[in-house]
Amino acid sequence: PTQPKANKPIIVDIHTHMYPPSYIDLLQSRTTIPLLRSFPGHPSPRLVLLPSELPLLSHPSPSHPPGRPLTESYTSLDAKIAFMDKHSISISVLSLANPWLDFFSTSPDTTTTTTTTSPDTINAAAIKINTEFELMCQTHPNRLYFFAVLPLHPTTTTNLTNLTEIVSSLTTSTFPHCRGIILGTNGLGLGLDDPALDPLFHLLQDLALPIFLHPHYGLPNQVFGPRAERGEYGHVLALALGFPMETAVAVGRMYLSGVFDRFPRLKIILAHGGGALPVLAGRVESCLRCDGFLYKMEKEGKGGRMERSMGEVLRSQVFLDAVVYSEVGLRAAIGAGGEGGVGRLMFGTDHPFFPPLGEGEGEGEGEGEGEGQWGSVVVNREAVDGVLGEGSEEAGMVLGGNAIRILNLREEEGGEES
Ligand code: URA
Ligand code: ZN
Repeated sequence: PTQPKANKPIIVDIHTHMYPPSYIDLLQSRTTIPLLRSFPGHPSPRLVLLPSELPLLSHPSPSHPPGRPLTESYTSLDAKIAFMDKHSISISVLSLANPWLDFFSTSPDTTTTTTTTSPDTINAAAIKINTEFELMCQTHPNRLYFFAVLPLHPTTTTNLTNLTEIVSSLTTSTFPHCRGIILGTNGLGLGLDDPALDPLFHLLQDLALPIFLHPHYGLPNQVFGPRAERGEYGHVLALALGFPMETAVAVGRMYLSGVFDRFPRLKIILAHGGGALPVLAGRVESCLRCDGFLYKMEKEGKGGRMERSMGEVLRSQVFLDAVVYSEVGLRAAIGAGGEGGVGRLMFGTDHPFFPPLGEGEGEGEGEGEGEGQWGSVVVNREAVDGVLGEGSEEAGMVLGGNAIRILNLREEEGGEES
């Protein structure tokens, strides 16, 4: 028999999503994105999530309906554990997939009239979802943790006591498996440079709860043109290029508004290796140095300069996942963190998105899920091994060691072997 490799790494997946039952109920009750809808001639209901899918939703083509089939990978905990086992993932940090509870706030994809849902209902939805995640984690001790969802909506600011209570509860014995919160770029409807978010950032910093920042909105459909609107390019442009720009812009806005100066102990983990940010941070710094308006503001003592460069923020407050699918991208993500860059990166899969595709005539997506390892996962694993060396200490850090340290994923008593 072959000896197990001496330095077989512990693999931790910090970017892995699910839609628990109460969220599926929410999706089912909706008439615009995000929603669940069945289309004639297609056996499984489809999840329609992205703003780029709105044009197709109003004029669905019978052969290519919008969205993706809702497979059990999105909803079943057994499927999640089976996926983990198949890919030798010891620990997963689960999070609700996009767009979370964003549809309760004014957001770019809201085409219908503003919601009249009461804050109490939205708060209750968040508590329910977080409780569902906590219970999943308790079913598989030592294998599952989660990033909680927050009930953000325009009235949050007037209702801060409530939010404070909900966020504070995440660090109590009610949610022992919570390791941070997942956040989109929409905030309360005005983005993450909205000063109304300061109390939340303050609280997260105080409670040492990291933010896992994840994109959803991409770029306006106009950027991708009429052919994309007709669905000719599938989801490729929105996901591959829209998502990473959205993340970069969101962090750029936080930076320029001084969030990192005001909350220097706030920790933020960026999805998809920071999106476009690692290669563009230098450009942000250069544009800032050359900006006449901000120069004048500074001269007049009205701000305009950050205490630290964006690079310094990336090296101190920002962590990145390793969901970048290439060695070039991974090198950029590591480089963004400076000398300690390797210590700031954490492996992820983005499961259940990007499943292997089947050969059959059915829904395509998700059909090949039963067979070998997922190609989208293997590519990320190979990029880590390719850049850092298979079996190396550094690869082990990115694959799991960093997440265990940064997110404090310690052994629980009576836990499962993985
Ligand atoms: N598509 C999504 O909508 N969300 C993800 O996280 C990945 C792909
Ligand atoms: Zn994701």
